[in-house]
Amino acid sequence: MDSIRITGGKRLEGKIPISGAKNSALTLLPCALLTDEKLTLANLPRLADVDSFGHLLNGLGVSTSVAGVKKGEVGRKMTLQASEIASTVAPYDMVRKMRASILVLGPMLARAGESTVSLPGGCAIGDRPIDLHLKALECMGAEIEIAAGYVKATAPKGRLPGGDFSFPVVSVGATENALMAAVLTTGRTQLFNAAREPEIVDLCNLLVAMGAKIEGIGSSHLIIDGVEGLHGCEYEVMPDRIEAGSYACAAGITGGSIELVGVRPHEMLATTNALAAAGLAIEFTDGGMKVTAHQPLRPLAISTAPYPGFATDMQAQIMAMLLVAEGQSFLEETIFENRYMHVPELRRMGADIEVHGRSAIVKGGNPLTGAQVMATDLRASMSLILAGLAAEGETEVLRVYHLDRGYERLEEKLSAVGATIERVSAG
Ligand code: EPZ
Repeated sequence: MDSIRITGGKRLEGKIPISGAKNSALTLLPCALLTDEKLTLANLPRLADVDSFGHLLNGLGVSTSVAGVKKGEVGRKMTLQASEIASTVAPYDMVRKMRASILVLGPMLARAGESTVSLPGGCAIGDRPIDLHLKALECMGAEIEIAAGYVKATAPKGRLPGGDFSFPVVSVGATENALMAAVLTTGRTQLFNAAREPEIVDLCNLLVAMGAKIEGIGSSHLIIDGVEGLHGCEYEVMPDRIEAGSYACAAGITGGSIELVGVRPHEMLATTNALAAAGLAIEFTDGGMKVTAHQPLRPLAISTAPYPGFATDMQAQIMAMLLVAEGQSFLEETIFENRYMHVPELRRMGADIEVHGRSAIVKGGNPLTGAQVMATDLRASMSLILAGLAAEGETEVLRVYHLDRGYERLEEKLSAVGATIERVSAG
């Protein structure tokens, strides 16, 4: 297993190109199942999860081909085609590696009239049930049965009639599955309290480009009128707002200045507002957004929330940055029940953090010292990298396969702005 070694203390300065968004790519890829025509997705990030999703789709009968990367292009272009469905079963050994595989449930049901997916199980940050995915599909007319660790969804008459569902809890994945199931029904589907994340907007925009009828895009009330069929198209994946926010925290924690090239500032206002409240200077540039730390950082009080609130996927990273703020910060993680796995590892680097249930008190100003630390989940890993950038001496982050799931060419991007960082292959 590879590890990443960092020698801390360098002020980072320069430009970082932001890749296509992982959490958009993983919901755009299964849209290939909704048509027998070619779907080409541009600006796909080079990430382990994207590759895994491609393999999962291959197993269902989707052909995939990746175009060569032209000069100056950051992301990959992949063409997918589900001329016909070879299998409607997403097997355990694929789903256990990547829980986002559950996102084939809705589109497969819409295309083939049935879909069987291994139950994803929990993960490091929480139990992560899929009850809302299933309830939404049932309200649209699906029959759901669970047996032997698999969930099977069936459209009794071959195509779902559609229906209304109000989400008791905002769920990104359940909204995505419901949307992809709704576009080929014989009727109308209304989703209330739907997730409004920019990745949902990206999905809606792709579905509309494929011929779907969706109203209320960007709002929590989505109205989808089913159509007879969808056609292929070419679509560019949105930039990754979480990757951008993570590197903005790198500027903050090192007292540096980083231009996030290609980011869409309006999609990450809660993060930008938090960075500004901490004392970082935010400058909107032609290419994206420049984040500069001119002064010592101020402490913050932040609660995570569904979009447009502060993203739970940014909690670990802003916590790391607040380790160098002058004073005590307060964080509350309202989305997942166990998303402080980074805290014990940060403490080993000298951080003073108290956790009480879903709340954390971060006492800024303690000197950070490099150490060997263990990555546990994607965003926790990034918080360890960030702390390593500011720590005295060398930090080695183990099990970086967690990082490779969500951060493309991390060591390359950080080296280019002055970090002393290298990947150590374990052979
Ligand atoms: C997506 O996960 C993202 N993953 C997560 O990013 C992100 O943290 C999360 O949305 C919240 O923004 C992808 O897009 C691939 P949810 P998802 O359904 O869809 C509960 C990362 O680091 N819930 O919005 O699984 C759930 O337990 C990853 O990039 C139910 O109770 O999240 C959680 O408490 C981590 N029943 C809350 O809702 C359900 O059926 C929000 O989960 C579904 C969810």
